[in-house]
Amino acid sequence: MHDTPLFTRAAKKEPVLKNVFYTCHYFTYLPKIHYLCNSETNYTFHTMQEKIIILDFGSQTTQLIGRRVRELNMYCEIVPYNKFPHGDKSVIGVILSGSPFSVYDEKAFKAELAEIRGHLPVLGICYGAQFMAWTSGGNVEPAASREYGRALLTEVNGADPLMKGIKPGSQVWMSHGDTITAIPDSFSVIASTEKVRIAPYHINGEQTWGVQFHPEVFHSVDGTQLLRNFVVDICGGRQDWSAESFIDTTVAQLREQLGNDKVVLGLSGGVDSSVAAVLLNRAIGKNLTCIFVDHGMLRNDEFKNVLHDYECLGLNVIGVDASAKFFAELAGVTDPERKRKIIGKGFIDVFDEEAHKITDVKWLAQGTIYPDCIESLSITGTTIKSHHNVGGLPEKMNLRLCEPLRLLFKDEVRAVGRALGMPDHLIKRHPFPGPGLAVRILGDITPEKVRVLQEADHIFIQGLRDHNLYDKVWQAGVILLPVQSVGVMGDERTYERAVALRAVTSTDAMTADWAHLPYEFLAEVSNNIINHVRGVNRVCYDISSKPPATIEWE
Ligand code: XMP
Repeated sequence: MHDTPLFTRAAKKEPVLKNVFYTCHYFTYLPKIHYLCNSETNYTFHTMQEKIIILDFGSQTTQLIGRRVRELNMYCEIVPYNKFPHGDKSVIGVILSGSPFSVYDEKAFKAELAEIRGHLPVLGICYGAQFMAWTSGGNVEPAASREYGRALLTEVNGADPLMKGIKPGSQVWMSHGDTITAIPDSFSVIASTEKVRIAPYHINGEQTWGVQFHPEVFHSVDGTQLLRNFVVDICGGRQDWSAESFIDTTVAQLREQLGNDKVVLGLSGGVDSSVAAVLLNRAIGKNLTCIFVDHGMLRNDEFKNVLHDYECLGLNVIGVDASAKFFAELAGVTDPERKRKIIGKGFIDVFDEEAHKITDVKWLAQGTIYPDCIESLSITGTTIKSHHNVGGLPEKMNLRLCEPLRLLFKDEVRAVGRALGMPDHLIKRHPFPGPGLAVRILGDITPEKVRVLQEADHIFIQGLRDHNLYDKVWQAGVILLPVQSVGVMGDERTYERAVALRAVTSTDAMTADWAHLPYEFLAEVSNNIINHVRGVNRVCYDISSKPPATIEWE
């Protein structure tokens, strides 16, 4: 194992499988098609926009490399290790990612670099560095002691352009089982740590470097500096990728491609579909019709409030209250997967019916974002996010797909939303599962239970906002437990429901920690819920992290 995954779930030794674990047992009611090739909206500007190509060898941090490069306002694309876009003149540099494999593994991914090295600046990270050293006649061996975590640079050749501004003592993050033990004469060591002599190297006479540590992770203190040295100084990146430039080019592109065609888009209230709608609205105005379905499992007044927000944003939006249909279909259903399927199918039926009322629709727009689409995530042969495809909405409706955000990371989607003038409360919304409160009511669903949960949830979320805690947590909500317990209110014995509060911190929902909210705040929320929500006499706080728990209870 060479690029042992850096994060907790790595213990499973299935770095790619994390994505499967994360998603495939869910049924998102807004089906998304994930491969770039499936979307018909071609953005020719991508061939004009200068870019860094990240060749993905399956590392858990490949996406992180992409995010770091984008944070430098440089456009980049992540492609599988064997799909370099030869002939694309807009590529100004190449980064090779890490990998779960050893260069010696039979299954190790091996890229053909002959047409890349020497023609374009190249930076190999971890496995990427080992692969280039090994294929150039160097030696790679299992490290005497495996190196994970922090290390300090002891010697640095500050004259090398990759190491500009990086001093001895700088902390770097290691995560590898193999190490480079010998390099050809044409390679120079440009920094070392106590245990790793060849921490980064430079291939003389070539614009090619390799680093054993991970500059993309937060704990490599000068990692951004190193990436900037590569992307800006060495590759000559103009750093012209910004939310504003993205909007200008995408709007122009959408106008050209969609012409006078009509487009439908399903709004969920979430950030991605909302930003996609506003962007499309800017491009094609009333030719975009948005459909927002209330399945009855939304938060308190959410349908009304979000619909109002959408109208204020000038969107042409149809709100459909289909809650009665969903309550009827969900009656008596306790199995979480059944609930998801019922809601998924119901959503598609309602959406389809509404969309058919609009004449001459040609396109279905979706808020698919980059992490959903990175084809390379399945390079080890594992299908990811299959749940997003289950609905089959695009197939059923026989529409062409338009996914204007499909090259953006989540934080970029938010930046685009902000630049489009969307209000903060829409942009900063916590993630909310497609099946909504249905998966937060353990057991069967009734309108009365939804009412109880909506009220408790409202108190918790409003409390977070009032105490300036909302933006400090990744996601929060209340779960209605299938238990009743004894309490006493006034002189009366009560036998009522219990709810659990759940608030987590996270960066991507793949791992999460319970949010350490102040006791006083929890006490206030608990009191408010018990005093104001009829039917609840007990409040618990969920202090489980993910893994081993998940964020949602079902
Ligand atoms: P878990 O519970 O696996 O959730 O830790 C991770 C993230 O996914 C959200 N989630 C869903 N989102 N449809 C969705 O669109 C679903 O069925 C679903 N289930 C969980 C969850 O809220 C969290 O943000």
